[in-house]
Amino acid sequence: MEAGKFPGRLQYTRAMMVLHSSRRRVGVSALTLVLLLAALVTTASAAHPEAARGTGGAVSSAAPAATAAGIEILRAGGNAADAAVATALALAVVHPQAGNLGGGGFAVVRFGDEVATLDFRETAPAGATPGMFLDRKGEPRPEASLVGPLAAGVPGSPAGLAELHARRGRLPWAQVVAPAVRLARDGFVVTRRLEAALTAEAALLAEFPETASVWLPGGRPAAAGGLMRLPELAATLEAYAAKGAPAITEGPLAAAVELASRRHGGVLRAADLTAYTPVWRLPVRFSAFGWEVASMPLPSAGGIVLGQTCGMLERLGWAAKPRFGADRAHLLAEAWRRAYADRFLLGDPRTSLAGAHQLLAPSWLERRAGEINPLRATPSDRVRSWSRAEVPESRETTHLSVLDGDGNAVALTTTLNGSFGCGLLVPGVGFLLNNEMDDFATAPGRPNLYGLVQGEANAVAPGKRMLSSMSPTVAWRGAEVVVLGSPGGSRIPTATVQVLLNLIVDGDELQAAVDRPRLHHQWQPDALLAEPEALAPETASALVSRGHEIRVVDQLGEVSAVRRSGGVVSAAQDPRGPGAAGVVRPDGD
Ligand code: DON
Repeated sequence: MEAGKFPGRLQYTRAMMVLHSSRRRVGVSALTLVLLLAALVTTASAAHPEAARGTGGAVSSAAPAATAAGIEILRAGGNAADAAVATALALAVVHPQAGNLGGGGFAVVRFGDEVATLDFRETAPAGATPGMFLDRKGEPRPEASLVGPLAAGVPGSPAGLAELHARRGRLPWAQVVAPAVRLARDGFVVTRRLEAALTAEAALLAEFPETASVWLPGGRPAAAGGLMRLPELAATLEAYAAKGAPAITEGPLAAAVELASRRHGGVLRAADLTAYTPVWRLPVRFSAFGWEVASMPLPSAGGIVLGQTCGMLERLGWAAKPRFGADRAHLLAEAWRRAYADRFLLGDPRTSLAGAHQLLAPSWLERRAGEINPLRATPSDRVRSWSRAEVPESRETTHLSVLDGDGNAVALTTTLNGSFGCGLLVPGVGFLLNNEMDDFATAPGRPNLYGLVQGEANAVAPGKRMLSSMSPTVAWRGAEVVVLGSPGGSRIPTATVQVLLNLIVDGDELQAAVDRPRLHHQWQPDALLAEPEALAPETASALVSRGHEIRVVDQLGEVSAVRRSGGVVSAAQDPRGPGAAGVVRPDGD
């Protein structure tokens, strides 16, 4: 064997972080290098640090200052909704590559026995058209759905976060917004992660002088360790604290968004912001391995992918197979291949060609599970999407997880889509606009930023919500509750479900469940992605001989999770990122 080469089709593919650091699409075009077999070692028995433990509540998020904001609000007597909103708003200040007021997101909210989901996903502006990302010859213009305000959907976060607080919060609104105001006005210390993200996206940010003047002071990315003050964003947050969402979605701030959009060729208008409404929706609910699970319904595919994965695995006897062995990895890949094939039919609930009631129907799950050959990978081009005739008609994102002392839970995932969204910071307002329009099927057959091939149900149309993969999730069994989610584009549902399975099938401690190396398959491209330590060499060879193409990537998702068990709460943050987990201890510490 040639040095460094692995027999079969095992390849090294540049990873998730690449996806954040360039506007290039990942997947088929990704740089492939040969993998050193010796690098593949299993961490099945690796020791994991303890998750933080307390009794008064728990927060896990991608930034220490944001987790601290959530904990501060819990200590002040806030509930899970108050703390989730405070954490999300703090992320909008200190984690601007994903935290936002100019983007959108989803929350799964469980208070007592009531579970609901809040959809504050962006919508296509009224001026959007199906061909807006095609040139005159009908050829795709990939940059147009990624860079500049034409790529921006109507922000959902201002109204969405206010709605979450209005429906479920306990503390006064201004008190919940206060930590974010303070961070923006008094300043926060730039983290290494932020400096790295600014450096990676410096070319994008430099395209817009409005953005560069804030985030590239003196032409260079804000440096780690320095104090960053954001006076315009502080003023916006102060107005938001005083007047709620209309402070941003009406009047001078909405007019400033329109002006910036017009100046750079966007179709986003003040009237779009004013008209935006978040929507409470019933969660996707399913039972799995003795637990109840609630996750995000359309316009996210996340809950459906989670439910289909668990449904197929239960039918295939997955839990009884040896942990870390080829059988389990094979069945996961085959279940995901089919769930993502079905995703092709999904879109905004008003245009989707299928929904949870069909794709999670026992008959459909049995059929899908029955197609799986336990010893052979099915090439993806032979896995067709769900067809209406076949089942009965019945039918740089960031995640934060919060539990309060009463066991109420909020799982909230929010995003600008790409790192720093479309790159345009609105002058006089201080926040960046998203590039969520790229989550639509912007050109027939063309993969999006995450390599997802999507269908007609997800075509661009005014007012429509673009299909998402975000999967905020709450699972419970008796008094035990788990709250989790992840960023990672198309890899979100697979990262989330693996952590869930580690907990509910294999009984891992919370931190170990989050730490364990992960796998991913999304139907197209037809490849099984593996973190470097996810597969032992013999497992990898067994999978290659079953027909899988394995590509090693350095990261799959970044999970934030909290849990309540036996009256004790614990919080875990993913070692894949520099986020933080915090808890409130009995003495209020
Ligand atoms: O909604 C979605 O599925 C994507 N816009 C999420 C983007 C994302 O996770 C980026 N972060 N890694």
